[in-house]
Amino acid sequence: MHVIGGTASTALAERISRELGNAPFGIPFLKRFPDGEMYVRIGGHLEGQDVVVVQSTPNDAALLELLLLEDAVREAGAQRTFVVVPYFGYARQDRRFFPGEPVSARSLGRHVALDADAVITVDLHSPTTLAQFTKPAFEASGIPALARLLRERPIDLLVSPDKGGIDRVRRMSQLLDRPWFALEKRRIDSDRVELNLPTTEIPAFAGKHVALVDDVITTGGTIVEAAKLLQRHGVGAVSAACTHGLFLRDAFERLKAVTDEVYSTDTLENPAEKASVAPDIAQILQREFGSK
Ligand code: R5P
Repeated sequence: MHVIGGTASTALAERISRELGNAPFGIPFLKRFPDGEMYVRIGGHLEGQDVVVVQSTPNDAALLELLLLEDAVREAGAQRTFVVVPYFGYARQDRRFFPGEPVSARSLGRHVALDADAVITVDLHSPTTLAQFTKPAFEASGIPALARLLRERPIDLLVSPDKGGIDRVRRMSQLLDRPWFALEKRRIDSDRVELNLPTTEIPAFAGKHVALVDDVITTGGTIVEAAKLLQRHGVGAVSAACTHGLFLRDAFERLKAVTDEVYSTDTLENPAEKASVAPDIAQILQREFGSK
């Protein structure tokens, strides 16, 4: 297999190539035409080869680059193209909330799958999006990568900031053999949330080191409010761990002010990226498609 790393996922792509037994690895040449249009060019002898294109899509430029890379790989005569989208943008618009809206996750799933033989992604916002790719699609989880890291840290208890994250925190609790509970969350608007302790019985956390576990940190609002709530109730220390660290605007600084440590995986390049999903992605590639 050859691995090509798009500009949003260069380091992770290189880690994946190492996990695939030092598979040949390359990065594209990119420039903009005078009118602003994007130009990409890939190197290497890809004819008849299996090629893995790795590119997260946290913004429109990254998405466009991915589509152009897929076409370049096809033009180069690859036998099969496996597209790895570690962070799949637009996944939150996974249904039509108001009349006149698109189902963005479905639209982009179709387009990304067009020149792919298979798609691999990590912790999608909603599992239903996997069916939208129109080609075989696989979802890795960021939880094992975070667990490999947190196992080395003195964490006593795991907390999900909302009920939607129960499966994730439960899986982490099994891997680390630590108790867990979920907070009650009500979203006020895209920047503000209200969090409360559940009314059911929960493990005692006063004086303990709690790790908040979430799939994505965007504005940081959820984790900041969760950390403050736990602190008001006497928690000893709070860490935050997420698969996708978008950290918009000043999110990272706000998080650092209320937590002891922030961890994310490398699905997005950011200052908290301390756990790699490369082994988990390579495992899916090897299990499903062997190596060539
Ligand atoms: C919600 O469903 C997600 O699991 C995250 O809790 C949420 O998207 C985080 O967003 P923010 O960092 O903006 O609060």
